[in-house]
Amino acid sequence: MNPILADKIAHAPKAELHIHIEGSLEPELIFELARRNGVALPYPTVQALRDAYAFTDLQSFLDIYYAGASVLLHEQDFYDMTAAYVERAMADHVVHAEIFFDPQTHIERGVSIETMVAGMERALAEAEARGFSSKLIPCFLRHLPEEHALQTFDAALPMFERYGHRLIGVGLDSSEYGHPPSKFARVFALAKERGLKLVAHAGEEGPPAYVVEALDVLDVHRVDHGVRSIEDAALVARLADARVALTVCPLSNLKLCVVNDMTEHTLKRLLDADVMVTINSDDPAYFGGYINQNYLAIADALKLTDDELYKIIRNGFEASFVTDAQRAAYLSLLDAYWHAPQAMP
Ligand code: ADE
Ligand code: ZN
Repeated sequence: MNPILADKIAHAPKAELHIHIEGSLEPELIFELARRNGVALPYPTVQALRDAYAFTDLQSFLDIYYAGASVLLHEQDFYDMTAAYVERAMADHVVHAEIFFDPQTHIERGVSIETMVAGMERALAEAEARGFSSKLIPCFLRHLPEEHALQTFDAALPMFERYGHRLIGVGLDSSEYGHPPSKFARVFALAKERGLKLVAHAGEEGPPAYVVEALDVLDVHRVDHGVRSIEDAALVARLADARVALTVCPLSNLKLCVVNDMTEHTLKRLLDADVMVTINSDDPAYFGGYINQNYLAIADALKLTDDELYKIIRNGFEASFVTDAQRAAYLSLLDAYWHAPQAMP
């Protein structure tokens, strides 16, 4: 692609709205934490682990992702993982991130939510002092019963009280097929009663009907992925009319075989239909790149224009869960950068 436009994207201030912090664990850090914590890994070397990153679908990835997350035991581990992500994100000019984590994965190994949040909060507070703002969103694992999600929500309530500036919502992730959003109607209703922000993965591998359920039953503010929405014209019109953002993750979709080739990605068709699409990294350590690599890969494959890329970056700030004043400040920052004469391709 045009190298000047590529450089312009890479240096633009951005929001990242779909990043699983456990998916930012690079193989080297997985091995370091395994050694520090005496956790046995089913892979002899960093290279052997990296070689296993050949996924055929979402489940084939999740099996390795949960194995990688098994090295996280102590507050310092959550700090180290989060601090490493912050460095990568800041290098890509991310100025605001809304970060997912999977409490149930860690609770199962005896780690308290307090431990997880304290470690991440310490890294994020330090990042805040360097101009990097962030929120945390715990996600429920949809392959587990709703009863587990309800217990997890209960256990998380003191965290929502104590870290209310950081923990601002709940999400839904993990294996999509056979686990529709409606399975989690009760726990999302409780979160809504508390005024929390609501998001859910839907329409990644699963059908557009799951996106409709996420809207109708869970009442989500944003949909994570949602790329299969394109198969339902009425849904596309509804997403556009209601300005419901999709947090799209191009390299993830390619690596998990949601699309066979980046040129087949639905992002541009959704954008053309006026859907509020954003670009994000999902699990960057596993999918071959952080946010800038996602922008560059899809911009190149779909021949996105300067205006389209501006729109997508702008959508990231528009769809973020920040105050109106913060949003206005980010949009001014973006406009000053994007429209500056030296930034023109
Ligand atoms: N957990 C981490 N990454 C995920 C993805 N892409 N889809 C569903 N659950 C996930
Ligand atoms: Zn995701």
